[in-house]
Parts: sequence; C-alpha cells; structure tokens
Amino acid sequence: MSEAVHIKNTGLRGIAVADTKISFIDGEQGILIYRGYRIEELAEKSSFLETAFLLLYGALPDKKKLEEFTRHIAEERKLPDFIHGCLEKIPKQASPMDVLQASVPLLAAADPEVAEETREANVRKAIRLISRLPALVAAWHRIRNGLEPLPPDSGLTHAGNFLWQLHGEKPDPGTARDLDVCLILHADHTFNASTFACREVVSTQAHMYSGVAAGIGALSGPLHGGANARVMRMLMEIESEKDIPAWVRRQLEQGKKIMGMGHAVYKTTDPRAKILREMSRRLGEKFGQPKWYELSVRVEQAAVAEFERRGMMTLKPNVDFYSASVYCMMGIPADLMTPLFALSRIAGWCAHIIEEKFADAQKKPELYRPESEYIGMYCGQMGCVYQEIEDRKPASQS
Ligand SMILES: CC(C)(COP(=O)(O)OP(=O)(O)OC[C@H]1O[C@@H](n2cnc3c(N)ncnc32)[C@H](O)[C@@H]1OP(=O)(O)O)[C@@H](O)C(=O)NCCC(=O)NCCS
Repeated sequence: MSEAVHIKNTGLRGIAVADTKISFIDGEQGILIYRGYRIEELAEKSSFLETAFLLLYGALPDKKKLEEFTRHIAEERKLPDFIHGCLEKIPKQASPMDVLQASVPLLAAADPEVAEETREANVRKAIRLISRLPALVAAWHRIRNGLEPLPPDSGLTHAGNFLWQLHGEKPDPGTARDLDVCLILHADHTFNASTFACREVVSTQAHMYSGVAAGIGALSGPLHGGANARVMRMLMEIESEKDIPAWVRRQLEQGKKIMGMGHAVYKTTDPRAKILREMSRRLGEKFGQPKWYELSVRVEQAAVAEFERRGMMTLKPNVDFYSASVYCMMGIPADLMTPLFALSRIAGWCAHIIEEKFADAQKKPELYRPESEYIGMYCGQMGCVYQEIEDRKPASQS
C-alpha cells in the first residue's frame, strides 16, 4: 500500500485558473462588476438585454446596436417545432431543471451553425440560447399543467415576454421591470461552479450547447442556483413557526445549513441581496403580501445573530435569499426559481464560453486537465494482481 498523502478537495478556493475580462468580485467589500460597470448601476439604469449585450460584446451598445440586438433576440424566440412534441413526451413530474438541461441538446440539433466555430457564429448561438431558454421554461411549465404553450409577444420586454409566455397574462410593466432587474443581477458571477463547468467543457473544443447543458447541471445543485428553491421551501415550512431563533439553532445543531446564507467569495452581504431585499419589501407592499419579506427578515436576523454567536461572522444573505420571496410574489412556483436563474445566467455562460474559445487569437485554449493525488490501492509493484472470479475471496474485495 502506498503512503499517499490524503488531501482534501479544497474546491479550488483561491486558485485563479484563467484570465477573464467579463466580471469581477471583491468579496471583502461586497462589490460585483460586469465589464467594468457596478452591478448597482446596471440594476438601476440598464435592461437585461443591454446587460447581455455588454457581457457578450464587452461594451455597452449604442441605440441602434441595442435595437438590432433586441430584434435578433425577438426573432429567435420561437422554439423549433419538434421541441413541443419532445416536451409532451416527458413525464409531467420531471424537474424543470432536468427538462431544461435535457432540452439544450435539442436546441443544438435544430441549430444549423452548431459546429461552426467562429466567434461570430458563437455570438449567434448565444443569441438563440438567450432567446429560447425562457421560451423552453415557459413551454414546459404550461405543458406539465395541461396548457398550450404560447407564442412570444415581441412588443414586451425580455422579462415581460417570459411572464406572458408562462402565465398567459400580460404582466404589469412594473413587475416586468422588476423581473428584468432580477435577470440583470443573476447574469454573471465570475468563475462560479456552473460557469466553470461551461468553460471546462468547451475547453475540449465541444460546442456551446454542450457547455451550457453542463452549466445547467451544475447550477441545479442546492449549494449553487438550486438554493433559491430551497429558500422558498424553507420559508413555506416555517411560515407558522413562532420562535425563529430556536428553529435556526435547531437547524444548525442538526448540522443543516440555512439556505441562501453564506458565499464562497463574499465575506459580507452579497450586493445583489441588498437590491433584492429592498425589492422584496416593495413587492410585499405592492401585492399586499408582506409575509414572505417579513419572514425572510426574521430568518436573516436570527441566522446572522446565531452565526455571530458561533464566530461565523462572514455568513450573510446571498443572491438566493431574497430572490425566493421576490419570485414567489411574481407568481413563480418554487421549482421554476432555479430555471429562472438559468435563463439569466445564460448570458454570462455564453460570454464565458466565447472568451474561453476565442480570448487568444493566436492560439487555441488549453484543455483543462487538473491532477489528483492517487490515494487508492496498490498491490505488488505496479498494481493489484488480477484473480479469476472463481478464485476471489469476499475478503479480497474491499
Ligand atoms: C455557498 C456555500 C457553499 C459557500 O461555502 P464556503 O464558503 O465554501 O464555506 P463552507 O461551505 O466550507 O462553510 C464554512 C463553514 O460555514 C458553515 N456554513 C456555510 N454556509 C452555511 C449556511 N448557509 N448555514 C449554516 N452553516 C453554514 C459550513 O457548515 C462550514 O462550517 P464548518 O467549518 O463547521 O464545517 C455555503 O455558504 C452554503 O452551503 N450556503 C447555503 C447554500 C446556498 O445558499 N448556496 C447559494 C450560494 S450563492
């Protein structure tokens, strides 16, 4: 047996694996920047499609370019015909994230440029993905509820059209704008797990759709984008809880996490959570349902106080904590909250995939190929001695 050193999976914390010009986080100060612009300013002044343009092309568009981009997105919204037929065949209880992930290769099959590996063709693929992911999520939600998918309405904003295709009612402009701001806030976040998954996959020279399918899988996990749905379920579970601090203590004593709290990079409140917190308060007032915001605040206060008591001073709300109540008040069911994250993050994923593929005009990107420390078995000089199955004793199978 070798004397291998046991190393813990450190989750690559603090290790820079590539250069990027797309986004930047200062985790100590709680700063998030897309292409040089602070997230607060984009949330206030930009739209999701303008932000998507910024992420993809590296600069804000002028009026004409934004109109052109918006038109291209609107033109691509219609799903290829065979996709509805495919969705109809999926069991209705399937998770919308699984359906979304499974549908991305179907979009690839319908893209005549799928194998075209130029920057321009990849930007066009990105436009199709940004355009079609919302349509897919909305179509699946309607199909699973026995309803007909709805055609897009190009008179609405990107977020407004999603709400229309989902609910079959034209949203009020204020709600559409609030959802648009949510999409801006979720559009990119440096080398998070899903973005890294996208970049890792396309470093093999696989196409954009393969990278995006991997990204959706990574996003679905409860430690990543899946946390927003868990936050909503937590709020529903504790709706009638009288003693929230005691509930928080019980959770931690049982080794459970408070979902929507803590972050691998932020050591202070996530700047996106601050914006979403205020939005949650405002929507609670607007819709006359302050309970989700008020409950979220009570959980935040109890959790932060308990974390501080335990010396875990850096655990604060992340983006998922207040987005849950915001989405709930917009009529988004809990299991669509993570797909909603995906149809915003698609802009960042595509920008990163393009950067991974084309950042250096002189050379192809390196294939990601980290090493591991082998701590498995050795027997004999080179490896285990293979025994015929009849000769193996149960004890030799470890
Ligand atoms: C996001 C997350 C994975 C970041 O983790 P990280 O910075 O790598 O830190 P770790 O998971 O190693 O946690 C460090 C310590 O804080 C604890 N901790 C972290 N987040 C916690 C939470 N939300 N609730 C309770 N404890 C938490 C861990 O259990 C760990 O304790 P230990 O040292 O006693 O084992 C983590 O905070 C988490 O799981 N949060 C909840 C899920 C979530 O909201 N995910 C969305 C992220 S945007």
